[in-house]
Amino acid sequence: MTILLLGSGGREHALAWKMLQSPKCSKLFVAPGNAGTASIAKNVALNITDFEAIKTFAIQEKIDLVVVGPEDPLVLGIYDFFKSDAALNHIPVIGPSKVGAQLEGSKEFAKEFLVKNNIPTAAYASFTKETVEKGCDFLETLQPPFVLKADGLAAGKGVLIIQDLEEAKTELRNMLLHQKFGSASSKVVIEEFLDGIELSCFVLTDGKNYKILPTAKDYKRIGEGDTGLNTGGMGAVSPVPFADAVLLEKIETRIVKPTIAGLQKDNIEYKGFVFIGLINVKGEPIVIEYNVRMGDPETEVVIPRLKSDLVELFQAVANQTLDQVSLEIDERSATTIMVVSGGYPEDYDKGFEITGLEKIQDSIVFHAGTKLENNKVVTNGGRVIAITSFGDNFQEAIKKSYQNIEKLHFDKMYCRKDIGFDLL
Ligand code: AMP
Ligand code: GLY
Repeated sequence: MTILLLGSGGREHALAWKMLQSPKCSKLFVAPGNAGTASIAKNVALNITDFEAIKTFAIQEKIDLVVVGPEDPLVLGIYDFFKSDAALNHIPVIGPSKVGAQLEGSKEFAKEFLVKNNIPTAAYASFTKETVEKGCDFLETLQPPFVLKADGLAAGKGVLIIQDLEEAKTELRNMLLHQKFGSASSKVVIEEFLDGIELSCFVLTDGKNYKILPTAKDYKRIGEGDTGLNTGGMGAVSPVPFADAVLLEKIETRIVKPTIAGLQKDNIEYKGFVFIGLINVKGEPIVIEYNVRMGDPETEVVIPRLKSDLVELFQAVANQTLDQVSLEIDERSATTIMVVSGGYPEDYDKGFEITGLEKIQDSIVFHAGTKLENNKVVTNGGRVIAITSFGDNFQEAIKKSYQNIEKLHFDKMYCRKDIGFDLL
C-alpha cells in the first residue's frame, strides 16, 4: 500500500516509524514531515489544510490510505472531503468525520456529549458575549480555583485556571468581549475544578468496535515540579503505574464504552483515534477532555509499545473489522523525554545544528521540530527531539533516555530532568 501521513511532529515520526515496520506498507509519504521522517520516508511539501492540493497529490501518487496526525485537518473535515469526492472516496482516511472531530473542536459539544451519555465529567456551564454577566454571577457560585475554557481550538492554550474570583471575571470578559483567544473564545465553558492526577487513555475505533491502547501520562508544564507555562508536552510515560486493573475497568465501562455507543447513537462516523484526557479523583476516573487524534509526546511511548501491525489495524478500522484483529502490547515501560529549544513555549530561535544524534544507543530518536539544511539536521520548532526508551520499569527507561540526551547538543537545548517524578 502507498500511505500518506499528514503532520510534522514527533507523533508523526513515531507513526511513520511504526507503519514502515509493516509488510503492507510499500511506500510512505509524510506531509510535510521533518528531518526524521525524511530519513525513513518521503517528505512532501503539502499544506495539510489545503484539501485540493492533497487531492491532486493523492490521485497522482495513487494513495491507498491517508493517516491524519494533528487535529486541524480533521476539524476542517478532511474525512468528509474524501468521502464526498468521487475521485477520492475509495481512499480511507484514518480520523473522525467533521462532526466527530467536534469532540475536540468544541468544548461545549464535548461537554454536551459527555452529559448526554452519562459519562463522568466536571459540572459546567457555557457563556457567550451576550451572557457574560451571567457567567460572572456563575463564577460567584463556585469555589476557587476557577476553570475557564475557550470553546474552540486554541493550540492547547485555551484553558485558564485562576485562583482569584475578580481575576477570573476579568479573564472571562477578556475571552468573551476582547477575543483573548480569537474566535475560539467567542464561547467559554466554565468548569468545576477537579483535584487529582491526570492520565490519558487512547482508543482506536472503527465506529462500532474499539481497541484500548496503552495508557500514558504526559508532563505539560515547561518547568520542573509541573510549574510554569503549559507546553505541548515535555515527556511521557507508559503504562501509567497507578492505572491498575480496577481503574482500567472503570475507564472502560464508564467512559470508553459509552463514548463509542454515544457516537453510534448519534450516527457520528468515527474511524480513528480517540484520546481521552482523564483525571483520577480518589480512584474515580473523570473526563476532562477529548482529542480526536493521538497525543504528542504520548504517541512516542504508546506506539512503540504496540507489537501489532499498525497498518493492519488501520485497515481493520477502515473496513470496520477491528473486532477481528488482536492487539499485542509490549509489557515493558516506555518513556520519552522531549528536548526543546530554550525560550519555548514562548519565543525561541530556530536553525541551530543538532549534533550527537548518531551516538544515541538503545533508545529511539523521534524528531519533532527538525529539518535538513545543507545535509545537516537543524532545529525547526520549539519541541525538537523526543528520546524514547524501554525499561522493566519507568525509572529504568527514563535513565536510559537521560543518558542518551547527554550525548546530544544544540544551542539553548533544554529538557525537564524530572519526568516521572510524581509516579514514584
Ligand atoms: P484541556 O485542554 O481541557 O485538557 O485542559 C488543559 C489542562 O487544564 C488539563 O490538562 C488539566 O491539567 C487542566 N484542567 C482542565 N480542566 C480541568 C478541571 N476541570 N479541573 C482541573 N484541571 C483541569
Ligand atoms: N500532549 C498532549 C496533546 O497531545 O494534546
